[in-house]
Amino acid sequence: MSRSMFRQSILHALMCVVSVFFVIPHATQAGEKKLKPATLSKAYQTECAACHLAYPPAMLPGQSWDNIMKGLSKHYGTDASIDDVDAFKEISQWLQDHAGTYKKPALFPPPDDRISKTYWFVKEHRKIASDVWLRDSIKSPSNCAACHTKADQFDYRERNIRIPD
Ligand code: HEC
Ligand code: HEC
Repeated sequence: MSRSMFRQSILHALMCVVSVFFVIPHATQAGEKKLKPATLSKAYQTECAACHLAYPPAMLPGQSWDNIMKGLSKHYGTDASIDDVDAFKEISQWLQDHAGTYKKPALFPPPDDRISKTYWFVKEHRKIASDVWLRDSIKSPSNCAACHTKADQFDYRERNIRIPD
């Protein structure tokens, strides 16, 4: 082994050690950062955060958002149709632009195109007892903001979770 090759392999080994310390903690944070879209859509906030909070587009794959936008007249038992063509287009495009970046399993459409039925959601919330979901202050797993106090800001970090009585 020549001197420069030796130096290179030492350097490589050092980089590996360094990346274990820096890249891994960084990777666990990435999921949270990706929840806040780089750009916001006014139309999304107006049209899609009237009945419930603005769900992070990153939490569903593009296919699910497409299904949801095509089925708005029969939206989980309610009519959520959007008459304004421009608003409809803006929202559809914006959802596609920011879709599916949170957790790998979200790349596949979950049952009913529900975030609350994704594999990772069920896993993250498995310790919550079934009667807790039914409390008057919560009512449904879809009601993220009941426990995630900063969900309206796309912030789901553990430090901002409070389960209401
Ligand atoms: C007229 C009220 C209304 C409007 C407007 C509305 N929704 Fe909903 N949405 C609902 C209801 C009701 C549910 C079911 C909540 C439940 O099961 O507790 C729901 C559920 C959802 C869910 C699934 C939540 C879960 O369980 O993971 C998504 C995603 C969603 N809506 C997206 C949208 C988008 C995108 C728009 C805008 C285009 C929109 N909603 C506009 C009423 C509405
Ligand atoms: C009944 C209260 C409650 C509701 C409602 C709820 N969550 Fe949670 N969520 C929790 C708790 C508690 C945890 C922490 C679980 C643990 O670590 O054991 C959690 C964890 C999470 C995490 C992981 C956070 C992290 O950084 O580790 C995400 C993401 C999340 N929830 C998203 C959602 C979304 C999206 C919704 C709505 C569709 C939702 N949650 C509804 C209580 C709730």
